[in-house]
Amino acid sequence: MSVEQRVSRRGFVGGAAATLGLLGLKPTPLWAERSRPLPGGSLLQDEADEYDALAKLHFNENPYGPSESVLEAMTKAFKYSMRYGYPDGGVTSAIAEHHGVNEENILLGAGSGEILEVVGLTFLEHGKKVVGVEPSYSSVYRHASGIDADAIKLPLLDDYRQHIPSLIDATKKHYREVGFVYLCNPNNPTGRTVSKREVRQLLDGIPEDVPVLIDEAYHHFVEDPEYATSIPHVLEGRPVIVARTFSKLFGMAAMRLGFAIASPEMIQLMSPYSTGSVNALVKWGAVAALEDTAAQERVRRVTLQLRKKTTRELESLGFSCIPSETNFFMMHTGRHVVEVGAEFRKRGVAVGRPFPPMLEHLRVSIGTEQEMGRFMTAFKDIFSITTGSGSTRG
Ligand SMILES: Cc1ncc(COP(=O)(O)O)c(C=O)c1O
Repeated sequence: MSVEQRVSRRGFVGGAAATLGLLGLKPTPLWAERSRPLPGGSLLQDEADEYDALAKLHFNENPYGPSESVLEAMTKAFKYSMRYGYPDGGVTSAIAEHHGVNEENILLGAGSGEILEVVGLTFLEHGKKVVGVEPSYSSVYRHASGIDADAIKLPLLDDYRQHIPSLIDATKKHYREVGFVYLCNPNNPTGRTVSKREVRQLLDGIPEDVPVLIDEAYHHFVEDPEYATSIPHVLEGRPVIVARTFSKLFGMAAMRLGFAIASPEMIQLMSPYSTGSVNALVKWGAVAALEDTAAQERVRRVTLQLRKKTTRELESLGFSCIPSETNFFMMHTGRHVVEVGAEFRKRGVAVGRPFPPMLEHLRVSIGTEQEMGRFMTAFKDIFSITTGSGSTRG
C-alpha cells in the first residue's frame, strides 16, 4: 500500500469524526484520548499516558490543534514524505500575500524559534550584544550566550511594561557592541504590549542602522487598539525583522513553521544561517491555515473568553493578574513559583516555569474549558480557598 493510500484510509490523526470535534472546539480535543499501546513497552506507554492526562498549561500552546482544512491539506501532502524536491503549495507566496509583502521579504524557519536563532547567528558575530528586557522570551538570550555573544537585559517597569527610553539609552550607550535589539510584542511571559507609538519611539531613538527583532508570536490575540504589527516598518525601510509563528493561533507547534519578514537585503544576510528544514506537511498546512479565517476566529474567541473568565475569577479571589493580550496570563501568587508549580503538577496540571526575577508570579496558558476548570480546582486546593467564602490566601 502506498503512503498516499495508507494516509487516506486511516486519516491523518484518527479520522474525520475526531477532527470535527476539534473544529467545533469541543471541550475534550482529540489529543486527550488515551493513546494506543506503544511498541517501546510500558515505560514509554506510562510516559505518554501521563503526558496525555496532564492539563497542559505550560507552553502557551493552542489546545485545539489545526483545523479540519489544515489536517486535510497535511494529509494530502503525506504523499511527498519520501521526496526532497516537491511542490510546496506556494507557502512563501501565500505568507507574503497575506501580509502585504513580497516573497523576497520572507524567510521560513522550523518554528519562529529558528528565526530567532538565525537573527542571533547573523547579527551577533564577534561577541556582539543583544539588548532587551527581562523577563522576556529567554531563548534569544540563551542562544546569545551559546554563541559567545552577550545580552544587555533591562528590568521591566513596575506595571510590567517594557521601558522604551531605557532600551534606547542602553542601545545608544553600547552602540558599537550592539548586534540587535529584541522586542517581544506582546511580551512573553507578561502578556503586555508595546504600543505602536512606543515602537516608533524606539526606532526613531536608536541609531538607524541597529537591527530590531520584533517577535510577534502572540500578535493574533491582541485586542489593545494602541498596538499594531511592525510589518509597516519593514516596508518603510527600517532595519526591522518581524518574527511570526504558526505555533500559536494556528495550533501547529509540533509541525514547526515560523517566518521572518524583513527587507530583501536582511533576508539575504540571514538565509545562509537557516537550515531550510521545514517539512512538506506544514508547508501545505500553513497555506490552508491562512485561508481558514473561521477557524482562526473560533480559536481566538474561545481563548480570549477563557482568559478573561479565569483572570476575573482569580481577581475576585484576591489574586492580581497582569493584564494580558495573549493566550496566557501571569498572576501573583505570593509564593515561590517552583513550589507552586510542583503542587499543580501533583494535581495533574502543568503550569509555566519560573521567570526570574518574577519568582512569585505564575504564568498560565489558556487551555480548553475543561483544562481551565482543572486549573481552578487545583488552584483552590493549593491555596486553601473555599468556594463562596472569598480568598483565604496566606
Ligand atoms: C515569544 C515567543 N517567540 C517565539 C517562540 C517560538 O515558537 P515557535 O518556535 O514554536 O514558532 C515562542 C514559543 O513559545 C514564544 O513564546
